[in-house]
Amino acid sequence: MRLITANRMKTIEKHIKFYSILFISFLSFTACNSQEKKSGSELSKSIEKGALVYEDFCMTCHMPNGKGVPKTFPPLANSDYLKNKREASIRAIKYGQKGEIIVNGETYKGVMSPLGLSDEEVADVMNYISNTWDNKNDTLTTPEEVSKVKPIK
Ligand code: HEC
Repeated sequence: MRLITANRMKTIEKHIKFYSILFISFLSFTACNSQEKKSGSELSKSIEKGALVYEDFCMTCHMPNGKGVPKTFPPLANSDYLKNKREASIRAIKYGQKGEIIVNGETYKGVMSPLGLSDEEVADVMNYISNTWDNKNDTLTTPEEVSKVKPIK
C-alpha cells in the first residue's frame, strides 16, 4: 500500500512539473511574440517615413531602383556594404562619405556630401533602404543608435 502511494505521488509530481514547464513556455512565447510585433510595427512606420527621406535626398544619385549609377554612385539595392557595414553606412548617411570605398567588388571614389538630416531621419532612411528592393534587415535602426555614431577623426 505504501509503495503505491509513493508511486502515485511521483506521478503527480511529474504532472506538476510537466504542466509548469508547459505554462512557463507558453508565457515566454506570448511575451516574445508581442515584443516582436511591437518592434515590427515600429519598423514599418519608420520605413514609411524613410521612403519620403529617400525621395527627397537620395534618389537623384542612388536612383529610384536603388541601383545607383555604374562607377559613379554605388548601389544600395543588394549592396554588400550596406548589409555588412551597418555603422559605416549610418556614418555615411549622417556625415557624408568620400574617398575610396568598395561596394560589391567595384571601387568608387566619389563624394556624397553631408545631407543635414536629423538622427531620426537617418534612422528612417536606413530602415527604408535596408528593407526595400530585395534588401531585408529586421534589426531596427533607432535615432539612439544613430546618435552614437561619431565621425572618423
Ligand atoms: C550627390 C549624390 C548622392 C546623394 C544625394 C546621396 N548619395 Fe549616398 N553615396 C554617393 C556616393 C558617390 C557614395 C560613395 C562615396 C565614396 O566613393 O566614398 C555614396 C555612398 C553611400 C552609401 C555606402 C555605400 C553603399 O552603396 O552601400 C550609402 C549607404 C549611401 N550612400 C546612402 C545614401 C542615402 C540613404 C542617401 C540619402 C539620405 C544618399 N546616400 C544620398 C552619392 C550620393
